Amino acid sequence: MVILGIETSCDETGIAIYDKITGLIFEYTYSQEIHRVYGGTVPELASKDHIKKILKILLFTLKVKRILFKDICFISYTIGPGLKTSLFVGIFTAKILSYALKIPAIGINHLKAHIFIAFLFNNSVKFPVLILFVSGAHSFLLDMDRFNNINILNRTLDDSIGETFDKIARSLKLTPANGRSIENMINRKFLFNNLHYPSPIFLFDFSFSGIKSAVIRDISKTKLNKNSVSNISYNFHNMVIKSLCFRCVKLFSFKKYKTFFLSGGVSANKILRLSLKNYCYLFNINFCTQPIQYCTDNGVMIAFFGFVCLNLNIFDDSLILTVKPNLII
Ligand code: KG4
Ligand code: ZN
Repeated sequence: MVILGIETSCDETGIAIYDKITGLIFEYTYSQEIHRVYGGTVPELASKDHIKKILKILLFTLKVKRILFKDICFISYTIGPGLKTSLFVGIFTAKILSYALKIPAIGINHLKAHIFIAFLFNNSVKFPVLILFVSGAHSFLLDMDRFNNINILNRTLDDSIGETFDKIARSLKLTPANGRSIENMINRKFLFNNLHYPSPIFLFDFSFSGIKSAVIRDISKTKLNKNSVSNISYNFHNMVIKSLCFRCVKLFSFKKYKTFFLSGGVSANKILRLSLKNYCYLFNINFCTQPIQYCTDNGVMIAFFGFVCLNLNIFDDSLILTVKPNLII
């Protein structure tokens, strides 16, 4: 069974082909560059770029693996959350193909797709699972006591963690303005933990606006050069990673979790991955995540979660054209 996954929720056009027997066959993710000059994603430009690229990427993907349209049995696409106009490009592409090829096309939850990709790369996941979900638009701590039964433990009261990374990167004039650029700035010698930023943990939920304002205020008073940018990045980064780990460790002692999932775009952060992996080791918890290239948005997670939904028989393949920009878990 060949499944086509289509991801267009923000500024990545992702196409993947997944097969029930052989697993992932091929994937291609195109990250839009046009937004760089604006320091953030411009929705109108994002959807136009998806329209320009999506068919080219789809045809390229099929050609590389010599797959014919008639080989595809099933399509899954992101229905939400995300940018409305970008989501529409995915749904239109999926529904037109579905109609022409007479195969089902289902809209799936992007956040769940980020989480479930961990099952693709980790066998024999034992429950209960604690999930730290940290992406560009969301931050959650979640509890999964059995397959697909997810409860929200904590969320962010304001900005998401990824957004905070992006805004600080923009204030520091880093390009691209994202978390990876901040992480790259701290790989230097002679950095000191000398700036004291507030912790993003606010009672039980996360709150990233305090640390964001403190760092941005600091930036506005600082002459930016390589040293000062590295130092601010380092201090901000330390505080965020430390507090995320602290919150996870608290939950490790609270309940006997067997597995830990690190999901969402920010899980590409190597220091966060390593720190949490070490804590999991101490608590005898199986640490699961996905390879770095599948942490941020991609078509593989959409194809794979489509396959999961198909197995669970939870899908709606009607021809109704609606997207769900504000969908949550
Ligand atoms: O999951 P994702 O691709 O988009 C959403 O679904 O929201 O996440 C993108 C986010 C961006 O905010 C980006 O800055 C962040 O993931 N990110 C990172 C790193 N790589 C990507 N944050 C910190 N460190 C990284 N290495
Ligand atoms: Zn995402």
